[in-house]
Amino acid sequence: MKIPVELAGRSYDVLIEAGARHQLGAVLDARCPGYQASVIITSAVLRAHSWFDGAFGDATHVIEVPEGENAKTFETLERVCEELASRNLSRADVVVGVGGGAVTDLAGFAAAVYLRGVRLVQVPTTLVGQVDAAIGGKTAVNLAAGKNLVGAFHQPVSVLCDYETLATLPERERLSGLGEVAKCWLLEGRPSKDLADKSLEELIVLSVRLKANIVSEDEFEGGGRALLNYGHTLAHALEVLALQRDRDELRHGEAVAIGLGFAARLAYTLGRVDASFIANHDDVLATLGLRARIPRELRTEDIIRAMGHDKKAHHDLTFVLAGPGGFEVVRDVDPQVVTRVVEEFRDDQ
Ligand code: GLY
Repeated sequence: MKIPVELAGRSYDVLIEAGARHQLGAVLDARCPGYQASVIITSAVLRAHSWFDGAFGDATHVIEVPEGENAKTFETLERVCEELASRNLSRADVVVGVGGGAVTDLAGFAAAVYLRGVRLVQVPTTLVGQVDAAIGGKTAVNLAAGKNLVGAFHQPVSVLCDYETLATLPERERLSGLGEVAKCWLLEGRPSKDLADKSLEELIVLSVRLKANIVSEDEFEGGGRALLNYGHTLAHALEVLALQRDRDELRHGEAVAIGLGFAARLAYTLGRVDASFIANHDDVLATLGLRARIPRELRTEDIIRAMGHDKKAHHDLTFVLAGPGGFEVVRDVDPQVVTRVVEEFRDDQ
């Protein structure tokens, strides 16, 4: 199945199927005319998977980066760019990101800034990567102050989502991806009862279609794309605080799941939705097997401060919230109300 991201001269397809990674050679030929070298950026762990061998035979070089958020540092970016330079990668050549959301974010940012931009193919191998991170051209590294605070928009020329790479996904990583799937399901206003008969493949297609449509309408987040940050104001704050404590305490999709449950409660407390809205969120999250409470170890005042650093915020607390007219970006939410909802939405309640 091919889902188009329509961006005039920079349009591309997201190919979703078992074995999609084997299309890399054909995609490079079709989408990167004149290329002579391709460099795969991936992790040592992924390179060791059985599905890696042979599938990427057309790539000239491989650069290994750390797993997870450890990949998204300036240090790793600098090393990757030095390696691209030492391999003489030219503007006609292509970078291929193979990995989870963190690896494709880093590979994408390296492709955006090396020689002021080279072509990029993304091969997301995790659920988070396939339904969100690798699609739409957002690339970034993290700062201590927050996630993704330094980055660029740089669209890939193709995205290959291969179901077969999900077969080796650890359960926790699969659950993390379901956090982004839940976001898409809830943004579309779907009821929890319809989840029961959906396969993972159907959920991936549904999520990619939503994202591709939104990005096609609003590439640079001037409007509708901001809605894809549903649940993310709290999620990014929790991730930053968790990263300061232990790099693997809270994965992105796990934090998004908590952020979704929180956003429903905040919308309710602000009188924007009724109680059945919270119940549907909780049912969707529970059906997908997601925990949705703020870890008790994280302090409320730190969470509120971290949310104030969110990219959407203008020195205030900004959230994507549902309301009578649908989802919208709501600015300047009263910190006292946010504090109360944070306090009520803890593990120990
Ligand atoms: N992950 C949100 C976006 O790509 O806009």
